[in-house]
Amino acid sequence: MAAELPQVRDTELTDLPAILELHNAAIAAGTAIWDTEPVDLAERERWLAERRAAGTPVLTATVAGRFAGYAGYRQWWPKAGYRHTMENSVYVAAGHRRSGVASALLAELLARARASGVHAMVAAIESGNVASIALHRNFGFQVVGELPEVGRKFDRWLDLTLMQLTFEARVASEP
Ligand SMILES: CC(C)(COP(=O)(O)OP(=O)(O)OC[C@H]1O[C@@H](n2cnc3c(N)ncnc32)[C@H](O)[C@@H]1OP(=O)(O)O)[C@@H](O)C(=O)NCCC(=O)NCCS
Repeated sequence: MAAELPQVRDTELTDLPAILELHNAAIAAGTAIWDTEPVDLAERERWLAERRAAGTPVLTATVAGRFAGYAGYRQWWPKAGYRHTMENSVYVAAGHRRSGVASALLAELLARARASGVHAMVAAIESGNVASIALHRNFGFQVVGELPEVGRKFDRWLDLTLMQLTFEARVASEP
C-alpha cells in the first residue's frame, strides 16, 4: 500500500504539546534554532496567539493523523517598512523526515503568502543545514547573502545563509 501523504492545516491549540516537543528538541540538539534554553507550553501558547493576532499562518502537518511537523512565517523585521517581507520557518519531527512533509508545509505556506499579497519571503538558515537549503532551493529561493560567524552555539561559531523568494512585483502606488 502507498504511504499516506502529509495533510496540512491551520495549527490548533491541541497541536502545541507536539510542537513544543519538536521545538525543544531543536533547541537542545540542533543548530536550526539559536536559542539554548527550553521553553514551556505557555510560551508556545503566547507564540501562537501572537501569530494569530498578526494574521500570519502557523500550519501543522499530519501523516495518518499523527503530528509530523509545523511551519509558519512572520514579518522579517518589526518595522513598518518591512511589512511586505516575511521570514519563514519549517520543522519536521525526526521520524517523518525525507518523506515530503516539509515540502507539503512550504507549498501551502507559500500559497498563503501569495494569497495575502506578501512580496518577499526570507529564509535565514544555518549554513551547514544542507537539507533546509536544498528544500528552499526546490521552491525557487535563491541564496542572497552569507553572514559568517554571526551565531554561537555548542562552543562554535555558526554562519547564516540568507535565502529569498520574491513574488510578483507590486504596483508602485500600493501602500
Ligand atoms: C530541513 C527539514 C525541514 C526538511 O524536512 P523534510 O520533511 O525531511 O523535507 P522533504 O522530505 O520535504 O524534502 C524536501 C527536499 O529537501 C531536501 N532534503 C531534505 N532532507 C535532506 C537531507 N537530509 N539532505 C539533503 N537534502 C535534504 C531535498 O532536496 C528534498 O527533496 P528530495 O527528497 O526530492 O531530494 C527537516 O530536515 C528538519 O526539520 N530539520 C530540522 C529543523 C530544520 O533544520 N528546520 C529548518 C530551519 S531553517
